Amino acid sequence: MTEIKKQIADALCTAAGGAIDAAELCAALEYPPSAELGDLAFPCFRLSKTMRKAPPAIAAELAEKFSCPAVGRVQVAGGYLNLFLDKEYLVRHVIACTLHADKPYGGSEDGKGKTVVLDYSSPNVAKPFHIGHLGTTVIGHSLKKLHAFAGWNCVGVNHLGDWGTQFGKLIVAYRKWGDREKVEAGEIDELVSLYVRFHAEAEKDPSLEDAARAEFTKLEAGDKDNLALWKWFIEISLREYQKTYDQLGITFDSYKGESFYYDKVPAVVEALREKGLLKIDDGASIVDLEPYGMPPCLILKNDGSSIYPSRDIAAAIYRKETYNFDKCIYVTSAGQSLHFAQWFKVVELMGYDWYDKLVHVPYGTVSIDGAKLATRTGNVVLLKDLFATAIEKARAIIEEKNPTLENKDEVAKQVGVGAIVFHYLSNGRIKDINFVMEDALSFDGNTGPYAQYTYARMRSILRRAEAPANGENPKVTSPEEVELAKVISRFPERVQAAIAEYEPSNITRYILDLCAAFNRFYHECPILSAEDADVRETRLALVTAASDVLGNALDLICMGKPEQI
Ligand code: ARG
Repeated sequence: MTEIKKQIADALCTAAGGAIDAAELCAALEYPPSAELGDLAFPCFRLSKTMRKAPPAIAAELAEKFSCPAVGRVQVAGGYLNLFLDKEYLVRHVIACTLHADKPYGGSEDGKGKTVVLDYSSPNVAKPFHIGHLGTTVIGHSLKKLHAFAGWNCVGVNHLGDWGTQFGKLIVAYRKWGDREKVEAGEIDELVSLYVRFHAEAEKDPSLEDAARAEFTKLEAGDKDNLALWKWFIEISLREYQKTYDQLGITFDSYKGESFYYDKVPAVVEALREKGLLKIDDGASIVDLEPYGMPPCLILKNDGSSIYPSRDIAAAIYRKETYNFDKCIYVTSAGQSLHFAQWFKVVELMGYDWYDKLVHVPYGTVSIDGAKLATRTGNVVLLKDLFATAIEKARAIIEEKNPTLENKDEVAKQVGVGAIVFHYLSNGRIKDINFVMEDALSFDGNTGPYAQYTYARMRSILRRAEAPANGENPKVTSPEEVELAKVISRFPERVQAAIAEYEPSNITRYILDLCAAFNRFYHECPILSAEDADVRETRLALVTAASDVLGNALDLICMGKPEQI
């Protein structure tokens, strides 16, 4: 619709004698609440000041003078000018933009020459990779894909929580109760249970805490044995994360985590001191943020070691120097909003003029129905268990629905993981959600499996057509064709909204609109069996356009695209 809206805006500007600028007019165009009121509407009060007339008179005048090939008919409705698109024009436009264009529809060059760094997933090594990380992982990767689709140069960073006192604890626990083979075999779960055991034992014997601090200090000082253990713990953890990333089709451009920055913190401290921003409070170094209504930002602990916020500041400076980003996005739970607000402020106070290019994208909490998935490592639900359960259930459903399907395992993975991703991204990110596995996996509701099933249905029609559609001379005969074309034409706007709002749920909701329009079309309009050759050709072209757009939309939210279910 973006292109069509632009044309209409230009024509309306001409009709209004240039009383408003075309871009402003374009932004003012509305989608009316119901089809009787047109496909687009212009609220004429926008012009009453410059044209010195009442909105209804302006609407009448515009209706008189307006002419645009994309619009079949206009209607004056009070202060609104309602516009009805020319059906053939719309369908021809959609087919041209999808089938006959050299770049994917909805993609753009808006971000050409610009770089965005995206910091997401970023789990804490040797701690459980749990359902709370689902948000950062899929929102983050989806935002990366959306930016890439809009032409941005993207750098995805997994800012691993791979430094801190927990490693001292783990080293002590491993030396006391650990077993190399067991850790190798049990992978991250074994590390997590060592960590859990440390806390249990330290309750009885507080001297363990001192031992842990001492081991971490040795690690910071570069002790060989401790470094080797630390590296191994990370390796074990990464092996585990990788399985989940593979299931989601997620890759990163950098795994530089917190450990990479601890030796870059002294320079930050020095700069803060020079600017007179550093204060000592109870032995710790802080930046006072009281004038900004926030608690102080902790820079160094009282033992002089670096900490989460100071490592974040060092990381931001490093990323600016390394990538010269135009935006640096951090996706974390809303629980960290204050942390980001604080250190963003410190970066501003340090005088870095790029402080306003740092963006925190928060999301709400996730809970899950039933305690079935809770593990021996406590009350958390691990992401791998969540996926495994979903895949298993998807496998059973597929077995029942389509027993002869060839690549059942692959499809079960796509459907199971996709169901979770889709369910998660169905709501605005800031909303807290409760996960109901049965709902997520249903093929009937507004779910991932339903969207993938619709995609597979489109692909199956296209496989059965003996030649690809061309659709150069569309023949439009039913309202469902027009409705489908209309929904397809809105994709670029939804992509733009998803990027502007850092909100992948725009795409999820769009997918549901597209699937609904397609399924209505599918039920009302014979495609391959249409008698009239031009009608058949037009419908086939619309199926092609819809499957291209749906496929790209699924990609953008990290969902698999099964050819058959
Ligand atoms: N490791 C942190 C956690 O699990 C998230 C890191 C987010 N990124 C950052 N640059 N602070 O809570």
